[in-house]
Amino acid sequence: MSEYNAPKNFNFWYFFGSLALLVLVIQIVTGIFLVMHYKPDAAKAFESVEYIMRDVPWGWLVRYMHSTGASAFFVVVYLHMYRGLIYGSYRAPRELVWIFGCAIFLVLMAEAFMGYLLPWGQMSYWGAQVIVNLFAAIPFVGPDLALLIRGDYVVSDATLNRFFSFHVIAVPLVLLGLVAAHILALHDVGSNNPDGVEIKGPNAPKDANGKPLDGIPFHPYYSVHDMFGVAVFLMVFSAIIFFAPELGGYFLEYNNFIPADPLKTPAHIAPVWYFTPFYSMLRAITSEMVYALIACVVLAAGYGVLKSRLAGLFKAVVVVAAVIAIVLMLSIDAKFWGVLVMGGAVIILFFLPWLDKSPVKSIRYRPGWHKWVYGVFVVNFIVLAYLGVQPPSPTGERVSQLGTLFYFGFFLLMPWWSRLGEFKPVPERITFAAH
Ligand code: HEM
Repeated sequence: MSEYNAPKNFNFWYFFGSLALLVLVIQIVTGIFLVMHYKPDAAKAFESVEYIMRDVPWGWLVRYMHSTGASAFFVVVYLHMYRGLIYGSYRAPRELVWIFGCAIFLVLMAEAFMGYLLPWGQMSYWGAQVIVNLFAAIPFVGPDLALLIRGDYVVSDATLNRFFSFHVIAVPLVLLGLVAAHILALHDVGSNNPDGVEIKGPNAPKDANGKPLDGIPFHPYYSVHDMFGVAVFLMVFSAIIFFAPELGGYFLEYNNFIPADPLKTPAHIAPVWYFTPFYSMLRAITSEMVYALIACVVLAAGYGVLKSRLAGLFKAVVVVAAVIAIVLMLSIDAKFWGVLVMGGAVIILFFLPWLDKSPVKSIRYRPGWHKWVYGVFVVNFIVLAYLGVQPPSPTGERVSQLGTLFYFGFFLLMPWWSRLGEFKPVPERITFAAH
């Protein structure tokens, strides 16, 4: 680590990679201790969690560390991803780092979803029921797929057993492998930085020994820097664990303190906060919204046909593809399109390195209005998250429909808008004022 050179201008945003590693370790260690006392059995799971909370020495602490850790993981990872977004860290030569990151995000969602079934409370049970049923909306294979996931016709003991197995061993192994790949890929090319200026490339300034002039050894500079981040993080983390582990029902939902009852559906089923932006997008796709999506397909196809300088055959293919898409959209249930939009909202992140056509990497050297676009993106994401925890309402539905269009517009139109405006000149060397 003392030989690994990192750019000297890392800021606040660069804490979250090491914090994500810390939370990963916390989750694995607390998870190991929870498994010693937890029973993956529909008749015993809920009470075994109560037993951990009340009777196992320090069990309450281990359980709260794990439940708070799940939310902390997503807070840290969302901030980590946003850093990548604003500093263009996903762009060449770091595409692979980003792709491994997106895969981690997908796997993390699966891990959190399966873990949430284990306490076997009302929300665990009904949340799983809702999400697994979504798979049933996939044409042809859907119902069989849902059956395969559940291992039964409803969420049951069989589901609990397979989710347990995946949550404690299969998915963590994949996650660990992906994190290793993520960090290896990063170390091959080196970190980006808030200026988006390469410190290691062929044109980067180096001293007589070939050492980057704008780099500093990771140890001791960033090991100490990260320890400061860890200290602040642990203060906030402990404050939540000791004073507000449920965090107003956001980290641990109140309905989950009631044992699962397959005969009693809760009035309002909402996933945990970190899934709600995507859940909102799912709920936004009503049959009415399918018409709006069709309008988007027509506009995109019309634009493709008008703008393309390719042969008539290409244009004919675009028109035929658009007609097939529209017929499919009208003939398949809106629920399926909702599932597709929800999945697409995560999958689209993988393509970011090729969607961004801006001549500069970092937000610092982009036109002022780009900052507003990124600001609105965050507000939109938070609004979608908020609407996802609320019971459905006509206004909420409309707002989440607009939010969904904005979310996809941000990415799909990026090849166009990311080149527009007046860019500031990017310096040759990193800008950094020591403090
Ligand atoms: C378990 C989850 C994750 C862990 C443990 C992790 C770990 C790390 C670490 C230690 C770094 C280097 C330090 C830093 O730049 O902050 C890093 C960099 C990076 N990560 Fe992650 N990461 C995770 C998830 C993600 C996700 C979900 C994405 C994006 C979808 C992502 C994208 C990136 C990018 C683009 C960089 C390079 C940033 C730069 O050089 O500016 N990571 N990650």
